[in-house]
Parts: sequence; C-alpha cells; structure tokens
Amino acid sequence: MTEKELLLTALLNCKRSDLYTGGVSLDDKKEEILSSMLIRRKQGEPIQYITGFTEFMGLHFKVDNRALIPRPETEILVEQTVQLIENHFSGKDIGILDLCTGSGNIAISLAKSLENVKITASDISDRALELAKENAVINNAQGKIGFLESNLFDKLSRDRLFDIIVCNPPYLKSDELEQSPIELSFEPRIALYAGKKGILFYSEIIKQAPRFIKKDGYLIFEIGFNQLRQIKKISDASKKFVLEKVIKDYNNIDRVIFLRKVN
Ligand SMILES: C[S@@+](CC[C@H](N)C(=O)[O-])C[C@H]1O[C@@H](n2cnc3c(N)ncnc32)[C@H](O)[C@@H]1O
Repeated sequence: MTEKELLLTALLNCKRSDLYTGGVSLDDKKEEILSSMLIRRKQGEPIQYITGFTEFMGLHFKVDNRALIPRPETEILVEQTVQLIENHFSGKDIGILDLCTGSGNIAISLAKSLENVKITASDISDRALELAKENAVINNAQGKIGFLESNLFDKLSRDRLFDIIVCNPPYLKSDELEQSPIELSFEPRIALYAGKKGILFYSEIIKQAPRFIKKDGYLIFEIGFNQLRQIKKISDASKKFVLEKVIKDYNNIDRVIFLRKVN
C-alpha cells in the first residue's frame, strides 16, 4: 500500500480495495483529518503514529508516542524464542520476563503463540506500560501477562526465577541517535538511547540477570549493528553465560542472541 492508501484505509476503517470500488467516500470532516494526517507525515512523523496502529507477528498493536514502534526485525526474536520453547521446554510451565516491554509487542506475541507461559512484562516508563496493558486487552492476552513498572530488575522479587528473559533494550549510541532519520525523533528517547557506546543496557542486564534466571535458562537479546563482539566480551567476562546462538536479520546483520546461563 502507498502511504496515502494506508492513511485512507485507517481513516475510513476499510480495506484497500474499498478505496477503488466506490464503497467509501470522504466527507468534509474526513477531508480535513486526511490533510492534517498528510501534514504530520510531511513533518516526518512515523506513519504508524499517525494511523495509530501497526502489525507485529500478524497481530494488531496500538501505537503512539508513549512507546517505540515495534520493528519487523523484533519478530525474529519472538519466532526464535517460540522455537526454543517448543524444542527445549515442551510441555513445561514456563516463566518469561520481557524486560523493556514498551508497547508489549514481544510479551503479547509470546502469550498468543505459546500455551503454558506466564509472562512478566516490565518497563521503566509508566506511559509505555499503560499502552502495553491496552494492547494486551486488544489482543485478549491479559490473562497470561503481569505488568510491572521497574528500572530493569529493581522491583522484581528476589525469589522469582525465570526460565527465559527476553529483552529488546535501547541500543543506539550517541552518534547513531544524532545522525538518525527525523522519524526517530518522534519516538521516546528513553526507548532508544543507550549511552556513548550503545551497550549500557547489555552490560547492566548481563550483570544483574543471573540472579533472576534458572540454571540452563536463557537470556535472549535483540542487538544493534556491530554490537555482537562487545556483548560477547561482556558475557564471557561474567562467566555466567555461554553464547549459544546468533541469528541474523534479513539484512544479514547479527540481530538476536541466545545466552544460556551456565552457573
Ligand atoms: C527499544 S524499546 C523496546 C520496546 C519493545 N520491547 C519492542 O521490542 O518494540 C526499549 C524499552 O526500554 C524501556 N527502558 C528504558 N530504560 C529502561 C530501564 N532502565 N528499565 C526498564 N525499561 C527501560 C523504554 O521505556 C522502552 O520501552
């Protein structure tokens, strides 16, 4: 679909084909809304914030400036996590923590794809968590997910051990953020920026996560461009994890890593 078609189908709540078969029309009010949508787009606002939704893993997610817009490459993390659970944890009750949940896209997709899972979805941003809760209701996944406002692991109970922690943390470094396209400036900085080198969250999470993962459980990260070597170094130094798998994205960039907790 072209961007104009996307805006029109969202505005008129119709299918693309309806735009051409005469089944829908624009009254004055809708014309006005459409022109304001086109102006917002011209100013660089991401189309998903303008239409108010996006698709992720075939599910419908509400999106707005409370949280990052789910990206297609994050679907790789979800698909690989589902595969891991089906292969290694089949038939068991699984506890998953989705750290830095944002719009809730990872937690909700996992909840929809898997039977015996109990998921904790946490984020430091109360606004992102509000949106994640709304998305859980939209997708009828609220029964399997608990939400928690927390600065990384701060508010998590020390007695709770998860089988798997999944996390797509902020991972842009200062110069990547400065040189990024205008669209990115509409998304929350707190969802993007990860210090001068972009690895702040990986170091902190690798340091704290071992206390919250069962032995032979997994820490599964989405990672940024060219970050694998640095993250592996941090993980190796911790002596708590082995890097078991690296999955590339559609552009052949290392994108998802599995760290297995070994002690
Ligand atoms: C890259 S976004 C990921 C959002 C979502 N999981 C996704 O895949 O689209 C990172 C998220 O981390 C959250 N965040 C940033 N700092 C945090 C912290 N110290 N503790 C917990 N969450 C944090 C942000 O609010 C944001 O929602």
